[in-house]
Amino acid sequence: KNIVILISGEGSNMAAIVRAAQRDGWREKLDARVAAVISNKAAARGLVFAREQGLAAEVVEHTAHPSREAFDAALAAAIERHQPALVVLAGFMRILTPDFVSRYEGRLLNIHPSLLPAFPGLHTHQRAIGAGCQVAGATVHQVTAELDHGPILAQAVVPLLPHDTPDTLAARVRTQEHLLYPRAIAQLLPNL
Ligand code: GRF
Repeated sequence: KNIVILISGEGSNMAAIVRAAQRDGWREKLDARVAAVISNKAAARGLVFAREQGLAAEVVEHTAHPSREAFDAALAAAIERHQPALVVLAGFMRILTPDFVSRYEGRLLNIHPSLLPAFPGLHTHQRAIGAGCQVAGATVHQVTAELDHGPILAQAVVPLLPHDTPDTLAARVRTQEHLLYPRAIAQLLPNL
């Protein structure tokens, strides 16, 4: 079962998934492997890690395509070359077209840095602090056409502390994301 991971930047969640796959023997236990990492930005730092790991690390630049539809078609073509059982969005900062989403329905995951359904979209940590929340967290969910709204697969909760800034909260949430996302994927894989 091939896994394709889409990133746009740091790729720390992607790295956590790649490491978990190695550490927990996904190949032997789940018949699964990370087959490729694809970024919409050539400068994404995560590509460096992916290459160091000997993974296929590819770029499909959204700026090279005239429309969202054209970009998504090129992206899908790149993904399809790896025959994925699962496509994982990990800090992938592009909104996908309904056509793309329906093509991968049930095997397209995202992680979002809030306790959905609270705070879909951007600036989640700032909004959680502004709302006076006492907890924050991260959500792994199936991707549907509506942004950050698909069925929830797993969540992690962290405390929101009195002197938190968006950065301190993001770091606390990120640490949990790195545990949560590999666990959610490992749970889903036998059903794919
Ligand atoms: C994570 O906080 C994730 O929840 C959000 O974007 C961030 C990606 O970080 N969707 P990284 O690229 O995995 O380090």
